[in-house]
Amino acid sequence: MKIGFLQTRPVFGETGKNVEGAIKGLSRLEADLMVLPELFNSGYQFRDKAEARGLAEEIGEDIDRGPTVKRLIEAAGDLNMFIAAGLPERDGKKIYNSAVLVGPNGVSGHYRKAHLFAGEKKIFNKGDMPFTVQKIGKVRVGLMICFDWLFPEVTRTLALKGADIILHPSNLVLPNCPDSMPVRSLENRVFAVTANRVGTEERIAGESLTFIGKSQITGPTGRILHRAPRGRAASCVLEIDPRAARDKHITPANHVLKDRRTDLYEN
Ligand code: ACM
Repeated sequence: MKIGFLQTRPVFGETGKNVEGAIKGLSRLEADLMVLPELFNSGYQFRDKAEARGLAEEIGEDIDRGPTVKRLIEAAGDLNMFIAAGLPERDGKKIYNSAVLVGPNGVSGHYRKAHLFAGEKKIFNKGDMPFTVQKIGKVRVGLMICFDWLFPEVTRTLALKGADIILHPSNLVLPNCPDSMPVRSLENRVFAVTANRVGTEERIAGESLTFIGKSQITGPTGRILHRAPRGRAASCVLEIDPRAARDKHITPANHVLKDRRTDLYEN
């Protein structure tokens, strides 16, 4: 299976251009599954809820669906690939920092960010959807978004539900995630694709955010299979064998899921 990411440099508010730029990047690659960054169509730093609402789109059902998801589905059909991507979602009065997994036949996965980071708490509603696993053929994938990396319960829940590959649209600003995802992969014996963005936004005076790039793919043994550079747009496609994520043994006597001592853990 060929999986990968696009590390993009979106321009805040230029939704149509950001979407077309990403699709152009995807069209140069041959892959089965690609991951785009968090909020890849809108940019990240909303000044207030009203601004986020104006850029947010409905994901819900076909009839109401916004232009970004429709365009991603069309591109997935043209390019014969699955695409995971983050975008601001509007659902009635609520706004979520969401991600979708789309394929040629439509939306097959939808997730709302559970762990909001810093100023996001003033803009978005907290995710209210369970962590779920979707099938692409025989391969099982699960979505999480950016700061969810800090909470090992997320990757663990997805692994317990059978995910072989974690799809991780991101807009990282702290330096720690690229060094943490190898551990998330190792402790769950899963692949993970983190797609980050680059560039700086300072749409709120004194609150400059520089996105760290370093998108990466990690494997079930904890190896970094590829890491993108820090300061520029980039892409990567790697051939992996997803079956490697089905062996949960770290030694013949140690199974990372069955050896858990849930009788001793705090909930
Ligand atoms: C983040 O969750 N976008 C840092």
